[in-house]
Amino acid sequence: MLTITTQNHEQTRAIGERLGRMLHKGSIIALIGGLGAGKTVVSQGIASGLGIDEDITSPTFLIVKEYTSGRLPLYHFDLYRFDTPNQLDFFSIDEYLFGNGVCVIEWAEKIEHMLPSEHLRIEIQWLKEDQRQINLILKGEISPDDNNYQAIIKSMRGQRI
Ligand SMILES: Nc1ncnc2c1ncn2[C@@H]1O[C@H](COP(=O)(O)OP(=O)(O)O)[C@@H](O)[C@H]1O
Ligand SMILES: [Mg+2]
Repeated sequence: MLTITTQNHEQTRAIGERLGRMLHKGSIIALIGGLGAGKTVVSQGIASGLGIDEDITSPTFLIVKEYTSGRLPLYHFDLYRFDTPNQLDFFSIDEYLFGNGVCVIEWAEKIEHMLPSEHLRIEIQWLKEDQRQINLILKGEISPDDNNYQAIIKSMRGQRI
């Protein structure tokens, strides 16, 4: 696990941006944190790191929005109003999770049981008005060959924010 404390939203966005530059096809980022924690800020940073030039807005009523102007497709989920399990009947999340892009999932705890065991979990905790604690947690088996999350965390360790 890597813990970073940010002092403003630009720093949180910058963490997302660094991640976005390193993510791969099939990467899954589970964002956990209360309302106003900064999940959307991280998502916007990831989009920017992927080279997406569209505005990233919260897809609250759509569940997922796709952005295709970057290096890889971004599937941005916001499950705040997602009512499991009823809505799962008409929503095939696997198409995204095992698709060709990067999945960034706000309120991912709601579908934790459906996520592939290997993913990057980002917990954001509100500390003060402009201060957040961000925990980057590698989930699943640690196998250097096919687990790029480990390499990402390693490269972010020790970097200045
Ligand atoms: N260090 C910080 N990191 C992220 N957001 C911050 C920080 N400090 C203040 N903020 C503010 O907190 C809010 C986070 O909003 P948002 O990303 O939409 O939250 P969430 O998607 O988790 O509900 C934004 O208004 C942002 O400017
Ligand atoms: Mg949000």
